[in-house]
Amino acid sequence: MRYLKEITIINGPNLNLLGKREPKLYGNESMEKYLHVLKNKYFRSNCKLDYMQSNHEGTLIDFLHKKSTISIGIVLNAGAYTHTSLAIADAIRAIQIPVVEVHLTNVYSRSEIRHRSLISAVCKGSICGFGMKSYDLAIMSFLS
Ligand code: DQA
Repeated sequence: MRYLKEITIINGPNLNLLGKREPKLYGNESMEKYLHVLKNKYFRSNCKLDYMQSNHEGTLIDFLHKKSTISIGIVLNAGAYTHTSLAIADAIRAIQIPVVEVHLTNVYSRSEIRHRSLISAVCKGSICGFGMKSYDLAIMSFLS
């Protein structure tokens, strides 16, 4: 099977614990399980989904650089780095492909420190508050 396009999903710190981490906020489903659902769904559109997660800022930046020459777009949940990382914002600014910011929770209904995103202004758009579906909506934004 030759895929026509690749979209990369990148998750930042602590998102490896989805399904176990604060389930009242983030739900009970693991990323691996939901990824399976997404891969099946987008396979039909000839779209390959690549996924990586890291708890390390530099590793996330290296991966953004790497994927910028391969994927048509990146779905990024930078976790808490959203609110702190100028370096990730600079990496998004430096690459040529669109990045969509994603959050499972509605960060604007949470504590004030989470209202500020250093990456929003350099992303194509932002989606938050729809749980795992936020990832699906972001992928759709690249395909429609
Ligand atoms: C999050 C929101 C961030 O504020 C938080 O630090 C996370 C998860 C979300 O998906 O809702 O780790 O990005």
